[in-house]
Amino acid sequence: MKTIIEPFKIKMVEPIKLTTLEERETILRRAHFNVFQIPAEDVLIDLLTDSGTSAMSSEQWAGMLRGDEAYAGARSWYHFEKVLHDLTGMAHILPTHQGRASERILFELLGGQGKVIPSNNHFDTTRANIEHSGAEAVDLVIHEGTQPRSRHPFKGNLDPRQLEALIARVGAERVPVCMVTVTNNSGGGQPVSLANLRAVRAICTKHGIPLFLDAARFAENAYLIKKREPGQQDRPVRDIAREMFDLADGATISAKKDGLVNIGGVLLMRDDRLAERANNLLILTEGFVTYGGLAGRDLEAMAQGFIEVLDEDYLQYRLRSVEYLGEHLLQAGIQIVEPPGGHAIYIDAAAFCSHIPPAQFPGQALVCGLYRHAGIRAVEIGSVMFGRVDPDTGESVHPPMELVRLAIPRRVYTQSHIDYVIEAAVEVFQQRDRLRGLKIVEEPAALRHFTAKFAEV
Ligand SMILES: Cc1ncc(COP(=O)(O)O)c(C=O)c1O
Repeated sequence: MKTIIEPFKIKMVEPIKLTTLEERETILRRAHFNVFQIPAEDVLIDLLTDSGTSAMSSEQWAGMLRGDEAYAGARSWYHFEKVLHDLTGMAHILPTHQGRASERILFELLGGQGKVIPSNNHFDTTRANIEHSGAEAVDLVIHEGTQPRSRHPFKGNLDPRQLEALIARVGAERVPVCMVTVTNNSGGGQPVSLANLRAVRAICTKHGIPLFLDAARFAENAYLIKKREPGQQDRPVRDIAREMFDLADGATISAKKDGLVNIGGVLLMRDDRLAERANNLLILTEGFVTYGGLAGRDLEAMAQGFIEVLDEDYLQYRLRSVEYLGEHLLQAGIQIVEPPGGHAIYIDAAAFCSHIPPAQFPGQALVCGLYRHAGIRAVEIGSVMFGRVDPDTGESVHPPMELVRLAIPRRVYTQSHIDYVIEAAVEVFQQRDRLRGLKIVEEPAALRHFTAKFAEV
């Protein structure tokens, strides 16, 4: 069957507001052309992020009611620990309130001045936590991972030769851990192959360096391995996910993605001594080791989410739906980062708005165009987010790509919503000459994309 169906029924609905073109124009201007400043209520289809935006199942909600709120040793903790242990085989499982809390603890222990921490691509909170510790974060994704049109099936792979070269250059004693992000969010949600994880593992073992996964989207990565890696087609996704974890010494997880919850995180490791120190930090800032900054009900929802996310009917629908969105945009002539990754489609905004130079933020112009035309909220990943002014020359420096990300929340929108997004994007594309560049009229000292004010040029 070609039709993509959601493998669930809808039991509870939340209305979304239809607005007129005139209303959206007013809202956009009131938000100074920055969609982070638009109230979510005024958004029809919200594709800002897939993080913390999942719909929970009836079993997860039932678990929320069953949550045991005892301070220490709650029943919900033992349930959560068992599910995570069965999934990952890790000896030490620390609950945290979200991914970056796990990162903060890990890098406070392993980071520090003079240390160098490689990854395929560090996610921005990971990089920020590493740099906050005084260490250097280095991205070593394969060359194809930086080419939007390359159809390499595993563009998230870490380049083993570059890893060897880095270790040779700085010395293994300065590399306290190697990270691999699965899927590679900052690189377009592209997966990492098992072969690549094995190669990275072998290098880490040779040099005595621990390997940690940033496993926020481990299930989507495992499913893409099943679909794309030779010899993996007949394996259950759960087995593939387990092999990914078996190759690692630990992991940080933001459960707001493949944990299918709205808040939660996990820090996993095998090393007893490291775990003892991590538990001490956990108690200092998150909470006691059996709840770590969460309520018992959150642990129940996470435990159930980590089971449901490995359902292959769910993964088939999810990944196929994202791929379908990408295919239809490509068919209409809209260039995207190819092939479609796990959780989002990234539109090449520089190609979409070829009449708008990077200095006038083509990605932001497209984001505004999608909202104005159809009430869709996307996010710019280009010169607004990563552009900067060179302190020596005073000139603007632009990132290599001007992208707009359409991130798909899990189990929230139906296929007809996806069809609506395609129709809207194609219509905006057909009238792309009307999109106008923007200039920044006010910006904060850091992370300007959240609060900067723009005007049309
Ligand atoms: C790959 C990756 N790692 C870490 C994080 C941080 O997780 P959190 O937002 O839960 O702190 C994210 C969040 O988007 C992510 O995509």
